[in-house]
Amino acid sequence: MNILGIETSCDETAAAVVKDGTSILASVVSSQVEVHHRYGGVVPELASRKHIEAIIPVVDEALGKAGLRLTEIDAIAVTQGPGLVGALLVGFSYAKSSAYALGIPWIGVNHIEGHINSVFLEDDPPAFPFVALLASGGHTSIYHVTDHITLELMGQTRDDAAGEAFDKVAKMLDLGYPGGGIIDRLSNQGDPTRIKFPRSYLGKTSFDFSFSGIKTAVNRYATTHRNQIQEQIPDIAAGFQEAIMDVLTHKVIHAAAVKGCDRIALVGGVAANSRLREKLRTDAGLRGMSVHIPSIHLCGDNAAMIAAVGYHYLVAGIEADLGDDAFSKVK
Ligand code: KG4
Ligand code: ZN
Repeated sequence: MNILGIETSCDETAAAVVKDGTSILASVVSSQVEVHHRYGGVVPELASRKHIEAIIPVVDEALGKAGLRLTEIDAIAVTQGPGLVGALLVGFSYAKSSAYALGIPWIGVNHIEGHINSVFLEDDPPAFPFVALLASGGHTSIYHVTDHITLELMGQTRDDAAGEAFDKVAKMLDLGYPGGGIIDRLSNQGDPTRIKFPRSYLGKTSFDFSFSGIKTAVNRYATTHRNQIQEQIPDIAAGFQEAIMDVLTHKVIHAAAVKGCDRIALVGGVAANSRLREKLRTDAGLRGMSVHIPSIHLCGDNAAMIAAVGYHYLVAGIEADLGDDAFSKVK
């Protein structure tokens, strides 16, 4: 079954064609980073307008790369939420109307389930059940995953998402947007032990996160050391990154241990972080746990992961209805 996936929940317009939920025939991601860069974050109204401009060319490009016409697609899967509602509506309305016109099934997909399923687009997916850490610009949560579309939430951030903390700290230090990749690169030139930033664990049994304290600590440090800030930037970046990754790694390994699970998936934009990939593999490896992380191009928002989830809903006989609508908040 060839499924056209569509994703427009934030600042990426993406389309993909995925065969039988696992094999990517084409995946196109058109980023709006250039548009939002000067504002230091995503401007929702601009995002919606850019999606409207990009959706048709991006779908056409994905179909072209897959060597298929729209009429040869078996079903459409589209992100229904959570995300920016104006942005979501562009992809959602496009999918709904195209499926109606073509007379084919379509399905609204939860963006979070999309990220979790990104590991099934790789050669070595985890067997069920496994524990997943989703760390992105909008979410930081741990799930116990028992099948493709059944997730039990074990813990989540009480304030900022991990990626959001990276973006805000980068903005604070005037490094650019989005901050994750920039801080990741700068950290390679810094000493992660020189400046010790606080780690917030919220108690031994909690799987929740809090990143607002470390953000404040970086701000205070930068203000106090403003005269030598330029030469200290790599050390600040490395110290900040190490503190975040210590907490993420510790919590997901603990969650897996509590569930008696020896498989961990790491997904979402922050899963692209080189230090997190290395640290989780090492620390979980020492506990005899296997770690499953998608390739970098599947960590950030993409439509292949949406098509992969759509396949499992359709196989389970679940389809969307013309009365369905996009939703902005986590369900
Ligand atoms: O999954 P994603 O593309 O969009 C959301 O659903 O939020 O994640 C984007 C987030 C941004 O906050 C970005 O700064 C972060 O992922 N990110 C990273 C890295 N690459 C992207 N964070 C840390 N290290 C990276 N290498
Ligand atoms: Zn995402």
